[in-house]
Amino acid sequence: MSARTGTFTIGDTSVEMPIKSGTIGPDVVDIGKLYDRTGTFTFDPGFLSTASCESKITYIDGDNGILLHRGFPIEQLAEHGDYLETCYLLLYGELPTATQKADFDYRITRHTMVHDQMHSFFRGFRRDAHPMAVLVGCVGALAAFYHDSTDISDPHQRMVASMRMIAKIPTLAAMAYKYNIGQPFVYPKNDLDFASNFLRMCFAVPCEEYKVNPVLARALDRIFILHADHEQNASTSTVRLAGSTGANPFACIAAGIAALWGPAHGGANEICLRMLMEIGSVERIPQFIARAKDKNDPFRLMGFGHRVYKNFDPRAKIMHKTCHEVLAELGIKDDPLLDVAMELERIALHDEYFIERKLYPNVDFYSGITLKAMGFPTTMFTALFAVARSVGWIAQWKEMIEEPNQKIGRPRQLYTGEAQRDYTPIGKR
Ligand code: SDX
Repeated sequence: MSARTGTFTIGDTSVEMPIKSGTIGPDVVDIGKLYDRTGTFTFDPGFLSTASCESKITYIDGDNGILLHRGFPIEQLAEHGDYLETCYLLLYGELPTATQKADFDYRITRHTMVHDQMHSFFRGFRRDAHPMAVLVGCVGALAAFYHDSTDISDPHQRMVASMRMIAKIPTLAAMAYKYNIGQPFVYPKNDLDFASNFLRMCFAVPCEEYKVNPVLARALDRIFILHADHEQNASTSTVRLAGSTGANPFACIAAGIAALWGPAHGGANEICLRMLMEIGSVERIPQFIARAKDKNDPFRLMGFGHRVYKNFDPRAKIMHKTCHEVLAELGIKDDPLLDVAMELERIALHDEYFIERKLYPNVDFYSGITLKAMGFPTTMFTALFAVARSVGWIAQWKEMIEEPNQKIGRPRQLYTGEAQRDYTPIGKR
């Protein structure tokens, strides 16, 4: 069967570009030779129609609200597995056997401590430093401590760096929280699972034994699963671009954390909760819906809309269910924020403006209510997202590095500035 091609006709030049098909999902036109053959670039700011890479890790069907990790639906992973199992799947491509899982858990658990010198690193921050600012700084600084896992050409060092990242980011995030509230850092405990360890590092105090609530630990573990990876989102694309230069993995993940912080991306969960608190009551919802629709008002309904999902974000449905479980476990009967969120969702889903633009709740819509109920301050919400997403960034970075034809990412531009002109001496301007 002859190779399928797409024809580009620019002026009186027609060129054939190969069309490639994936396992599932849209075909792509490989335009790598377009500029060489026509002297014309494609133009797609925001990458609305651009596939930046080939990947085998995660697949999203935005029209049908489907999210697969290595082919497994997110609903099944969240229901039957745990976060470290999803980490193994994302990194190695298959679900682990019992032996592989035990070995992986053991290895991650024994990388959870950070070099004690990092404690003095924290002393330089103000007490009210935003945890994301701390994470960007400290994760980048891990490269200053672990010179034995920064050689990206060595597969062993790549794997060690991956383990260290997944294991140490929760410890650093918990330290950022403890530093904010003026409590002593809590060291990880090797006999606790990933989510329980994180809860204890955040909420234990030296004065008494900390008892992990298994329902909350399970809920947090599921929240980590929901946020683990999401194909070529903005922060993952940042990690891939940074990694394409050969930068060490700690620096690349720090770049990903910085990108995630933005309110249009991972920062939305923090802003979404602040928005729900600002709305405050069901009666005030209509004025905020009106603002969200007003082109002259920059206000957006945070936690709504998605570049890819034009149907329900499957993670939002699971998050909604988890939210109710956590509130029930904590005996929170009528949380006004939940009432506002559910009424806001109901109204928006029946409003022409949102229906027409296919704006549905995304993963950030219910996460804030859940995390607040669990005791986390809003400033920690995006840091928790970063904890969960570290495995996705690392898995995508590894895939990019191991790509045989990997090249540095270097886009071009449409230049609309001044044509060449001569320098004028200051006296003549
Ligand atoms: C995440 O990419 C990922 O996978 C990200 C993520 C992941 O797991 O990595 O899923 C995590 O980042 C989730 C998204 C969190 N962000 C928010 O909740 C912020 C609020 N949402 C938006 O800002 C927006 O929906 C985006 C950024 C998520 C998507 O923006 P797009 O795809 O560029 O869409 P757009 O801005 O061009 O909007 C299309 C239309 C516009 O109206 P018109 O100009 O056509 O009249 O929809 C409107 C927008 O004004 N619109 C909204 C809206 N989101 C889009 N109007 C009101 N409220 C909103 N939330």
